Amino acid sequence: MAGIVVVGSQWGDEGKGKITNFISQDSDMVVRYQGGNNAGHTIYVDGKKFELSSVPSGIFNPNRLAVIGNGCVVNPKALLAELHEIQEKGVTTENLRISDRAHVIFPYHMLIDQLADAKKGDGKIGTTGRGIGPTYMDKAARVGIRIVDLLDEEILRERLANVLAEKNEVLEKIYDHAPFDLEELVAEYVAYGQKLKPYIVDTTVLINEYLDDNKRVLFEGAQGAMLDIDQGTYPYVTSSSPVGGGATIGAGVGPTKITRVVGVAKAYTSRVGDGPFPTELFDEVGDRIREIGHEYGVVTKRPRRIGWLDTVVLRHSARIGGFTHLSLNSLDVLSGLETVKLAVAYELDGQRITHYPASLKDVQRVTPVYEELPGWSEDITGIKSRDELPANAENYLKRVEELIGVPLYTFAVGPSNEQTIILFDIWNKE
Ligand code: GDP
Ligand code: IMO
Ligand code: MG
Repeated sequence: MAGIVVVGSQWGDEGKGKITNFISQDSDMVVRYQGGNNAGHTIYVDGKKFELSSVPSGIFNPNRLAVIGNGCVVNPKALLAELHEIQEKGVTTENLRISDRAHVIFPYHMLIDQLADAKKGDGKIGTTGRGIGPTYMDKAARVGIRIVDLLDEEILRERLANVLAEKNEVLEKIYDHAPFDLEELVAEYVAYGQKLKPYIVDTTVLINEYLDDNKRVLFEGAQGAMLDIDQGTYPYVTSSSPVGGGATIGAGVGPTKITRVVGVAKAYTSRVGDGPFPTELFDEVGDRIREIGHEYGVVTKRPRRIGWLDTVVLRHSARIGGFTHLSLNSLDVLSGLETVKLAVAYELDGQRITHYPASLKDVQRVTPVYEELPGWSEDITGIKSRDELPANAENYLKRVEELIGVPLYTFAVGPSNEQTIILFDIWNKE
């Protein structure tokens, strides 16, 4: 029995999809356990580029199941469009499974997400506008509608009638927006239910059967630790738990089933959306990294904010996520810089601190304490092993491992599959 979790260790977009895709080559099942189509995971399969939002990165092998777990939120319309797009590229999606317990994103969730965030003005979160927060709010408020409800028109109508009464009042009275029509929504969502029916199962039973049969199950996190609702830069976070432990709740497996947690990071930091970011760069170094790294969001196409690697953040993520290994992507993007900086601590009111403060005000006031390492000018995009790295690039990797206290599993020198250097077989690692 083996369960590996792949999680983001920064503010998302660390290259999790790519690492999941690698590890999934030797797995029997890949499970998404939280989030929804706010995610955008870039992967290359047989030279073709895919940008997955709701569909797990394990979809590409028909002998492997790709599961959307109970902790996810699902926009059926967007999911069907994504499946169609994948099928158009010649990939079968029959191996998809969707949890009957996952919650459904409705158009009113998306609308309220966008209207509510815009209303916050300067204090906006900068959400993806996909309705993620409002859907998780309804789940917690116990007025959510689950995938299983789409298969029963009577229950769907009854639950939707209750919910719409309140949502329409909010839309009309607070946002001066037209209401939704109950029967139109029922008809549309019953039809989605029928289209998705072949994929809908009790995924909790399925995942546990796989684990009990000693099959290899990979859990694919979306977002990242700093966007975690409990441990991230609250309130500038998403509404789910991307951390390693989230896999247990969002997939319905016990914590004893998880044997490894791979934290994925970039060799620098990026963030899309608002909120504190202590090592953010506002100079030409940041612009250079953004351009070389093509740092524009997959989902919303927004330019990503860029900064130096922050090991205070990574230690926080490793601690709360229980990282056993680290994957560091985009080392190539730092090539050509005279020096590279690593934040090793923060200074707050003249005191050195090594943990990430809870108080937003404190995070906004900290000054990073940097260690400046010599850069490397060599082109590293063609290297095939760690010992081919220039000495200064190797020093950088080693220092990151030391500062976080977690060994590297992979590092990458470019976006394509051949540019990820895998240091060992993680399924068989002692
Ligand atoms: P995810 O959301 O964590 O799966 O990551 P995204 O796909 O949103 O963003 C990662 C971006 O970095 C994508 O555009 C990748 O193609 C790119 N990428 C991943 N690894 C590397 C790397 O080693 N070097 C470079 N230059 N780009 C990379
Ligand atoms: P992947 O899986 C980067 C950010 C949004 C916003 C905040 C809340 O590709 O790494 P939400 O729509 O979730 O309520 O927005 O979280 N965000 C992401 N940033 N990568 C993601 O996913 C993200 N998903 C959400 O920009 O700041
Ligand atoms: Mg992404």
